[in-house]
Amino acid sequence: MQNTRLAIEGGKAAVTLKAPTWPITGREEVKWMTEVVKSGKWSWLGPHERAFCEDYSRFIGSKYTIGLANGTVTLQCALQAVGVVPGDEVIVPGMTWCATAQAALDIGADVVLVDIDPETLCIDPASIEKAITRRTRAIIPVHLYGCMCDMDAILRIARKHQLKVVEDVAHQHGSQWKGKGAGAIGDAGSFSFQQSKVLTCGEGGAVTTNDPEIYKTIFALKQVGWGPKDPKKSLFDNLAPANRYGHNYRMTEMQAVLLRGGLLRLAAQTALREKRAAQFRKGLEAIGGPLRVAARDPRITRQAYYALTCYFDPTQSGGVNKDAFALALGAEGCHLGGTYWPVYRSPLLNLYDRTSPVPFRDQKKIQDYRHLKLPNTERCVKETAMLLTHSALLGSEAYIDQLLAAVRKVTDQLPVAGKVWAKRQKAQRKK
Ligand SMILES: Cc1ncc(COP(=O)(O)O)c(C=O)c1O
Repeated sequence: MQNTRLAIEGGKAAVTLKAPTWPITGREEVKWMTEVVKSGKWSWLGPHERAFCEDYSRFIGSKYTIGLANGTVTLQCALQAVGVVPGDEVIVPGMTWCATAQAALDIGADVVLVDIDPETLCIDPASIEKAITRRTRAIIPVHLYGCMCDMDAILRIARKHQLKVVEDVAHQHGSQWKGKGAGAIGDAGSFSFQQSKVLTCGEGGAVTTNDPEIYKTIFALKQVGWGPKDPKKSLFDNLAPANRYGHNYRMTEMQAVLLRGGLLRLAAQTALREKRAAQFRKGLEAIGGPLRVAARDPRITRQAYYALTCYFDPTQSGGVNKDAFALALGAEGCHLGGTYWPVYRSPLLNLYDRTSPVPFRDQKKIQDYRHLKLPNTERCVKETAMLLTHSALLGSEAYIDQLLAAVRKVTDQLPVAGKVWAKRQKAQRKK
């Protein structure tokens, strides 16, 4: 008998295979970790950090990699290293994790939020150009989830207006634009290695760059202001206190060991994710309902999927919204998540009163986030954007087929999914 009754109504779930878990670890890092623990060399520019930075530069195709404590201080340091100073404006997309904006605020810059492309959820180049003022110093293109920003257009704008480009590549470990590694296209790239990322050590970050001056500045910023004794030698064994300001944003050897292990698997995992993403895309096209995978720009030559970005078209769903669709799909065992909230809704961006824990700003000088409503950002949050997490893309072909079977089942019974969702909403409101 066919399994047609929706799981949300008590039917059998379409997905019976187990979802892949994350993170994945291997023997190498367990061996290295034991060695590190026994060695007592736990931090301060150790051999594993150095090896990771060299390997990662090779993987990304950047001249330099600097390991840091997380993917927020990486943004702060990268912005400072490209020359952003207090009072400058930095252009940031309205859709990203709040840290992208926060990093700029923390170094005294003003953040100008602009809209995104409704398909890719990445910053819209036309909106960047409209937002440029005399104070603009840098742009942060965030290559979000499973898509990349239009780097050709962004670099053209940056060159025309003499702006710096700091790529936020927290979601793109190994993506390539026309064969060039994300993070090595602009002036600097900022990676996060936080637990959910496709390359992770729990918490951690790195900046990649091709510019030796940016490299030295970031090294000083993370290493209490230290600089090279001999400019011709590697900074790792050639540092001395210098007349620069810096912090302790160092990475530990335990972090570096986990990253080295993850990096051994990353290329193969990325290839598998690309294959499974193509299978999911093709399967959704065959189903033909409201859900499809976001268009892939042909200039992307490798896509590292932090998530597979999908588009729910409300004009094709007979009035059923994406929350109802996601609820019914989730019950079938196919979990599609939503995006971040618009950055301007984050309490971190309450810069308007002196009791605020974030740096107070002159209201006349900053964009008014309280009344900001970027149309594409709003719409993707509420109506169109759905995400399949990267670990699902490491499942077998049969697992992806089951996810597709779940989508087909719900698509075939959209009115039922809509009714169940409406009923639950009503019940919740009564509580
Ligand atoms: C787009 C983006 N930028 C920056 C960050 C900040 O990274 P971290 O959490 O390592 O500080 C994140 C983290 O999730 C992110 O998703």
